[in-house]
Amino acid sequence: MTAPLGKDLLGLEHLSAEQINLILDTAEPLREISERAIKKVPTLRGATIVNLFFEASTRTRISFEFAEKRMSADTVNVAVSGSSVSKGETLVDTAKNLEAMKIDMVVMRHGSSGAAKFLAERIESNVINAGDGMHEHPTQGLLDMLTLRQRFGTLAGKKICICGDVLHSRVARSNIWGLTKLGAEVAVCGPRSLLPSAIEEMGVTVFSRIEQAIEWADALNVLRLQLERMQAGYIPSLREYNRVFGVTRERLERAPRDILILHPGPMNRGVEIDSDVADGPHSVILEQVTNGVAVRMAVLYLLAGNSPQLADAAKGAV
Ligand code: CP
Repeated sequence: MTAPLGKDLLGLEHLSAEQINLILDTAEPLREISERAIKKVPTLRGATIVNLFFEASTRTRISFEFAEKRMSADTVNVAVSGSSVSKGETLVDTAKNLEAMKIDMVVMRHGSSGAAKFLAERIESNVINAGDGMHEHPTQGLLDMLTLRQRFGTLAGKKICICGDVLHSRVARSNIWGLTKLGAEVAVCGPRSLLPSAIEEMGVTVFSRIEQAIEWADALNVLRLQLERMQAGYIPSLREYNRVFGVTRERLERAPRDILILHPGPMNRGVEIDSDVADGPHSVILEQVTNGVAVRMAVLYLLAGNSPQLADAAKGAV
């Protein structure tokens, strides 16, 4: 069996456009499995996957778990509270002990940038980064791209603006790497205090006013203000942030074209995005969540070393 993605999925920075397209092309037919009455195929029967979450998660953890179960893998969820990590056990010791119980893959979310790579270099199991600090969240980037690709047909030449707290966002970094590789034009928009100082070096345009971003873009990916990662002083107040940078219905109504609205969640309604936008006709936020399961199925499948042609066959096997 070939392993077209290599051993691990740590980020999109080091994937080629071909590898990213392979994941998206593999995810496309796998979406249908979740529409069935019996949402199960035998593709990963016998594989044991550990979901190791050191930070809170709703969408990513549950989405991975659905993806694993729908492909018939055996799964175990490990949360920090209730595990020996809370007694001071190191990340590597935890993972080595899990490996001693003969696992195949680890899906990990961790608060430290680089934690997924650190682990991947020390264990034999496949490691999938489910978000590491402010570094990358590759499956979120991929599901955002799948959602955009389904709506636009292609990402080449499309104008995507990532809005808000780019500084603290692993989602922004994965989107920028992935979208630029697939030929999209990418911009960021937010207060300078929430943009990384060398952001232009990633090949993006910078807008300082949300009105400019809305005039330019085909789609906005609106980021959550990560208040838990902020010291005081990044923004004057949440109310002020919403007034200056909030994505509101009034602002979108002035757009020269229909703009798709994405948000990785969880949302701060009334801060970075107003409810009538999040729930409005241009929002694809719940499509993103649906696509998340298919993208994670594709990643698990490809890392398991199967050939992409089998994705179609797997779709038909119950
Ligand atoms: N988008 C995302 O990562 O959401 P969770 O934190 O709920 O997993």
